[in-house]
Amino acid sequence: MIGDQKVLFSGMQATGNLTLGNYLGALKNWVHIADEYLTFFSVVDLHSITIRQDPAELRKRARNLLTLYIAAGLDPEKNCIYYQSHVSGHAELAWILNCFTYMGELNRMTQFKDKAAKHADNINAGLFTYPVLMAADILLYQADVVPVGKDQMQHLEITRDIAQRFNAVYGDVFTIPEPYLGKTGAKIRSLQDPEKKMSKSDENPNASIYLMDDADTVIRKFKRAVTDSEAQIVYRDEQPGIQNLIDIYGACTGKAPEEVVREFDGKGYGEFKMAVGEAVVAQLRPLQERFAQLSKDKAYIDGIIKSNAEKASYYATKTLRKVQKKVGFPDRIR
Ligand code: TRP
Repeated sequence: MIGDQKVLFSGMQATGNLTLGNYLGALKNWVHIADEYLTFFSVVDLHSITIRQDPAELRKRARNLLTLYIAAGLDPEKNCIYYQSHVSGHAELAWILNCFTYMGELNRMTQFKDKAAKHADNINAGLFTYPVLMAADILLYQADVVPVGKDQMQHLEITRDIAQRFNAVYGDVFTIPEPYLGKTGAKIRSLQDPEKKMSKSDENPNASIYLMDDADTVIRKFKRAVTDSEAQIVYRDEQPGIQNLIDIYGACTGKAPEEVVREFDGKGYGEFKMAVGEAVVAQLRPLQERFAQLSKDKAYIDGIIKSNAEKASYYATKTLRKVQKKVGFPDRIR
């Protein structure tokens, strides 16, 4: 809580190309719930360097992601949209919280194990303490709610544990954050392997719809989407490919799965795939147009970057000073 307002924090990494899954599963949903909270939406670039990045590429992607937050409909006058690296409090609080986190806890993090296996040549300490930085992100703003996907739940749980541990020693310093439990976004899966989630790091470009894909590419990818040989459009776990297409169509058109099933009753897969492709194209077009427009307005985006980093720093510093005092750092002389 800040004052009498509930706080919402979330962030995304600027690595890889954002997919339809990121949009329908997270970003679009943020826009719907943002009005009810004091919000902070960060481009978490400090997290990105736990994996080796090309500097020019990271800078470009970070700016694109920040622009995309706005293109998706988050009003930067109301929602604090900023780069994590522009607010030094994230790294400062993360250091302190590192001293309240156990090796054993971090050793249990499944994402660390996955990423360590994938990047065996660069298992750096930052990758290991990644969840502590995420805890700092959330606790720095006294966030009440954090919309996260299933894959980040373990990180939210450790955030709560760290906050409770700290509060037990020093009193009520941190708000204990909850996962956002309202209407969550759709869970979109890979078009080539519907058992997996749609991922921006998938090696097969046909598996994911990227937010900047043009209409032809979108349609082509849906035509190639993996389905099954049942030849019936039914929403059931035994037909994960069709289920995924129904979810995508539903998320784009606002229709429930039953409605979609009724609409395509007796139709063939080919026709259905085309309809899904067209619904996605219609969904992405305004986003792409707005993104293109915003990208051209360098001064406007620069202004947002500056003013929102200042706003975030204001709130971050408040929490940080309190924490520094609690742990016994000397007062600043003014
Ligand atoms: N780790 C998150 C992800 O990869 C991104 C993230 C960083 C985040 N800090 C956060 C998400 C704080 C929510 C809250 O998806």
